[in-house]
Amino acid sequence: MDIPIDIFGKKLKNPLFLPSGIINDIPNHSMAVKAGVGSLVLKSITVDPREGNPIPRIAKYDSGFINSVGLRNPGLTEAKKQIKLFLEKTNTPVIISVFAVKADDFQRLVYEFSELCPLAIELNLSCPNVSDEFGEILANKADSSYKITKLAKKQAKNIPVISKLSPNTDNIGEIAKACEQAGADAVAAINTVSQGMIIDINKKRPVLGNGKGGVSGTGIKPIAVAKVYEIYEAVKIPILGIGGISTWQDAVEMIMAGASLIGIGSAVYEKGWNVYKDILFGIKTYMEKTNISQIKNLIGAAHEK
Ligand code: DHB
Repeated sequence: MDIPIDIFGKKLKNPLFLPSGIINDIPNHSMAVKAGVGSLVLKSITVDPREGNPIPRIAKYDSGFINSVGLRNPGLTEAKKQIKLFLEKTNTPVIISVFAVKADDFQRLVYEFSELCPLAIELNLSCPNVSDEFGEILANKADSSYKITKLAKKQAKNIPVISKLSPNTDNIGEIAKACEQAGADAVAAINTVSQGMIIDINKKRPVLGNGKGGVSGTGIKPIAVAKVYEIYEAVKIPILGIGGISTWQDAVEMIMAGASLIGIGSAVYEKGWNVYKDILFGIKTYMEKTNISQIKNLIGAAHEK
């Protein structure tokens, strides 16, 4: 069952995608392909390989997860080989996600990965778990978001660039606008909410190896919907809406807030890989019942015209 949508000059079979970081290893993203996603985003890659933060890196709370993976990944050289193999085997459009702190590392990652011709490159400007190491996240400020997006665009050749933003700001509209002005082809929001902690009351210690982690799951959905709504008021470029979506009603809400594509991540752990097909069926049925012939007619429907 398809709900086609056009983005970046391409037609996707549906607006649902796997967000970055739900799967760690590159080859294992084939699970999302099998589940029928319209597109998928790989775990963020850095220039050098990273072991990640101490285990446990993920823990459950009542309505989702906190995680502190610490950008565990094989690094640019090895990742490029693995991604090339993955792309040769899959017809599902793939977005490559990159993380750096220094501008020239971002430029290098974007330059190298654009050679693989992915659907787009996502700039992770908003990982919440490495600020002890690297300092404040780039997406906290409009000027740093502008600068990195602009430099990345220069290296991306004709590959679309997506700036992924953090919910931990009270001016996400302004930051999204800065990315748009820098040439971003889309923005993605939200990254995990920074930062949560779960304490093991028997051990009297935080559960995660790193203590705190980014919060995801249904508990953050109202934040995500509000941030996407705010971005939609500020920019014309498409929005990839992510954060706590686990039912078709959630997905419709996110589309009405202004998202063109809908990321479903934590819900995979809660409900299994069928969640994509179930949500697609629900959206399709809703569209039929309400006489909406194309999904694009629903995008931003919650805004006053
Ligand atoms: C990590 C990165 C993220 O962007 C995020 O939202 C959560 C975790 C990480 O690798 O630690």
